[in-house]
Amino acid sequence: MFGRVKSLDAILATAEKKSLHRSLGPLQLTLLGVGAVIGTGIFVLTAAAAQKAGPGMMWSFVIAGFICAVAALCYSELASMVPVSGSAYTYSYAVVGELLAWMVGWALILEYAVAASAVCVGWSGYFMGLLKSWFGVVLPQALSAGPAWTLVGWVPHADFSTGVINVPAIVIAGVITALLVKGTTESATVNAVLVAIKILALTMFVVLTLPVMHTSHFTPFAPNGWFGLKGTSGMGIVGAASSIFFAYVGFDAVSTAAEETKNPQRNVPIGLLGSLAICTIFYLLVAAGAVGAIGAQPTAIGISPDSAEFARQCAALTAKGAQPLVCSNEALAFVLRGINHSAAGDLIGIAANLALPSVILMMIFGQTRIFFVMARDGLLPEKLATVHPKWKTPYIVTIFTGIFVAFAAALLPVGQLADISNSGTLFAFFMVAVAVMILRLRDPSRTRPFRTPLIWVTGPVAAAGCIFLYINLPLGSILVLPIWGGIGLLFYFAYGYRKSHVGRGLADAHADEAAPAPASRLP
Ligand code: ALA
Repeated sequence: MFGRVKSLDAILATAEKKSLHRSLGPLQLTLLGVGAVIGTGIFVLTAAAAQKAGPGMMWSFVIAGFICAVAALCYSELASMVPVSGSAYTYSYAVVGELLAWMVGWALILEYAVAASAVCVGWSGYFMGLLKSWFGVVLPQALSAGPAWTLVGWVPHADFSTGVINVPAIVIAGVITALLVKGTTESATVNAVLVAIKILALTMFVVLTLPVMHTSHFTPFAPNGWFGLKGTSGMGIVGAASSIFFAYVGFDAVSTAAEETKNPQRNVPIGLLGSLAICTIFYLLVAAGAVGAIGAQPTAIGISPDSAEFARQCAALTAKGAQPLVCSNEALAFVLRGINHSAAGDLIGIAANLALPSVILMMIFGQTRIFFVMARDGLLPEKLATVHPKWKTPYIVTIFTGIFVAFAAALLPVGQLADISNSGTLFAFFMVAVAVMILRLRDPSRTRPFRTPLIWVTGPVAAAGCIFLYINLPLGSILVLPIWGGIGLLFYFAYGYRKSHVGRGLADAHADEAAPAPASRLP
């Protein structure tokens, strides 16, 4: 299984045949990155980060941003060397063999599909905020949120007092899936418009909140310390960093565009680091504005924002008319309403309602593309890769992904979905950092259009950073990865091991022939 390695040369020969037009410059790449990155993380999870870290969440944004930057540098090297679809899965197949590649592909389901679910739930919060603000309509709690999940003696336990099913999240997942089945891809122009809307919305937020900042709102700076209080998991500044890592996920869209980039050696790192830098600056300003304007107002210290106890405390405070930031499902709109800018609050709500669906679209699209490549490799049933005769889309895998996304979005809160997604993403990024180093040793003379600077520092720091964030996630999310991995292993030995094309000597690589074109990069 470890010996079942796809030949890099064969993969590259495929890419060569496909030879996409190199048209993307540094600006388009940066826009692509910002378009995929800014989403639920900053618009929604700011509230959960405030509960976990207090004003100290500004450090959380810096830590998560730094680890993403070093991981991005590693990603770029592989993306420029192996410029084909399938992302970390394909890179791993070429470097560390089929079994680990399968595990990476399996973990990418957490990264993409579960992230899409998280963004659906985030969208749902803003959608309901607008419904309430414009029409005074409030959906029953049971239909607007999933239950809260806690571990009781290592067994997941659902508390339905917080909600039963998130109907708006199911609806948006369904709409996006239908669009993808019909072959909708986001054009570069639409992406640029949505990026502009997001940037304008965040700029407006910063401009309105920074002048009314109050230094007293920054103390206590770190109510839960760096690592949370004893007996809690996933709390404190570092716990918040592990969660807020989600806000940066999506930048890999830039590295997978390497093959369509002019002068990738120069432009891919500009696109990656440029989009990360822009997002980090905005995130820091937004975090400072949110906390400074109305205060983080954590409810009882040490309580996880995803727990039923937290929901109960929030409900009690809301009943008294004293809802704090940490309890809000539409954090940024809430802050603006709190400083008497209701119209601006609605504008932020509109921006989130317009822009978050494009993040969902990119995530579901990315997932279908990875499933598609895995099915073509024989590791998943090939029927999944069937292309619709009229719409020319891999409709079976798209519908399958849509159902998975809707199901998770219906039943889990946004913070837990983001944490679960992070566990898969961190595993994939870790493997990429390791793969870059292995390939430097094994094949030092191969052409590398982009070389990770100081690889023997950057690589280990990226790998260690991923482990660091992973072990500081809440316990439940830490456990999801090995359990999910175990299920993946069973699946592999029951199916992929026997059916693998490489294993059966059927094909060396035709990884992404006929794979649908990537979202957001079409002219
Ligand atoms: N980074 C993306 C978001 O925050 C996934 O929504």
